[in-house]
Amino acid sequence: MNIAVVGTGYVGLVAGTGLSSFGLNVTCVDINKDKIGLLNSGRLPIYEPQLNDLVKNNVRDGRLKFSSDIIGAIKKNDVIFIAVGTPPNGDGSTNLSYVENVARTIGENLNADKLVVNKSTVPVGTAGHIKKIIERHSNKDYFVDVASNPEFLREGAAVRDFFHPDRIVLGTDSERALSILMDIYRPLYLIETPFIKTTVRTAELIKYAANSFLAAKISFINEMANICDKTGANVTDLSKALGLDGRIGNKFLHAGIGFGGSCFPKDVRSLVRQSENMGYDFQIGKAVLSVNSNQVKYAFNKISAAFDNDINNKTIAFLGISFKPETDDVRESPAIYLAKSLIEKGAKIKVYDPKALENAKNDLAAAQTAENVYDAAMHADAIILATEWNQFRHLDLPHIKRIMDGDLFFDFRNVYPKNKVTDAGFKYFAIGR
Ligand code: UDX
Ligand code: UDX
Repeated sequence: MNIAVVGTGYVGLVAGTGLSSFGLNVTCVDINKDKIGLLNSGRLPIYEPQLNDLVKNNVRDGRLKFSSDIIGAIKKNDVIFIAVGTPPNGDGSTNLSYVENVARTIGENLNADKLVVNKSTVPVGTAGHIKKIIERHSNKDYFVDVASNPEFLREGAAVRDFFHPDRIVLGTDSERALSILMDIYRPLYLIETPFIKTTVRTAELIKYAANSFLAAKISFINEMANICDKTGANVTDLSKALGLDGRIGNKFLHAGIGFGGSCFPKDVRSLVRQSENMGYDFQIGKAVLSVNSNQVKYAFNKISAAFDNDINNKTIAFLGISFKPETDDVRESPAIYLAKSLIEKGAKIKVYDPKALENAKNDLAAAQTAENVYDAAMHADAIILATEWNQFRHLDLPHIKRIMDGDLFFDFRNVYPKNKVTDAGFKYFAIGR
């Protein structure tokens, strides 16, 4: 079977490569010619563990190709996955213009029956909207099915998540579409991956519901952490105890400076807006978002208070700036929002991040980048562990203390036991401990 995947971002590139390793012939297309050029020269536009080899092997075996000829790809392939960006509009609603572009191009170049599969996260009802656009732009009576197959990949674990998903969600409104998708995902079916076969609208909403619930867990534990700060309780122990309850589960209960990324903030905001447009007030979604944006202010206030509310000209070192470890992605990173709020108050910021410095350079033009942890810490008045990269888990704290001017350590992902840091001569601040 021949497949086209439109959009080679985190979702499209990983899904397209994963599908090609099932033995399918996949053409990944993108409007961004630089990205396609990079991919055809054997380099990746994103950092994802294991992706490099997977792309190389499938390109070598001739199953995976990259092209910017979207029209050609649409004409040559019977199944077309849409994985283009669905960024937020200013008001939190979803910008579907890229998805609509692709739908129009499909309609204009329809040359056979097609199955269009939406992998991008799109508001409920988008599949029907896409189908109308395709039909409006095609002057032939070929049959087009539009299905919803949302992705649950986590950045930094995208390849692993593709091959070991908790479930595959297939939203279709025809037997034909369902059987083609079951055929495509058969390799996962054989390893007993659960398949959820449902309607298109249900599949579209499942994605928002999953992200909203995960984000709610994070905002919940962050509020518990803030209450721990007030009550002198320890959120790490509290989180562990909660997580041992099978009904709660121990994932996504780590307190910190909040959630970022290109998904949680965007998807929760979108579901709030979609609900409003349908006359429903998604109260939990709104609370999740306001707790999350408050968490950066909460962290800022801890820093400001430690400096007696005078951070002008103070040098603050950031360890980590990506929105989470194992990724170069800085979209909606709480670390960036925190750094910006400190710069606004006159602080001098030095940032070290293993992968994300390049992507952060526009947001943090006013900050200084550092070669490594020790370069960032040199003469700093305070150090902030903002993103819990593994390489930050065994720092030489006494050495860092010696090369710093100040003694403030803000462990904003609760990585270190307090006494390990205070024994090295620091004043230790965390979230909820
Ligand atoms: C994003 C969102 O994060 C995710 O929630 C949504 O489900 C899909 O879009 P991601 O892969 O991170 O996922 O998107 P992004 O990194 O923005 O890449 C999208 C790609 O589509 C870009 O490479 C862009 O060049 C390409 N694109 C965009 C097209 O090929 N055609 C278009 O018309 C627009
Ligand atoms: C998320 C969903 O996990 C994934 O299923 C969906 O497809 C896309 O969105 P991603 O955004 O890549 O994946 O990252 P994730 O690992 O979910 O973390 C999101 C944010 O939550 C990060 O900023 C992370 O630091 C934060 N987080 C996560 C916490 O603050 N505490 C936690 O316990 C877990």
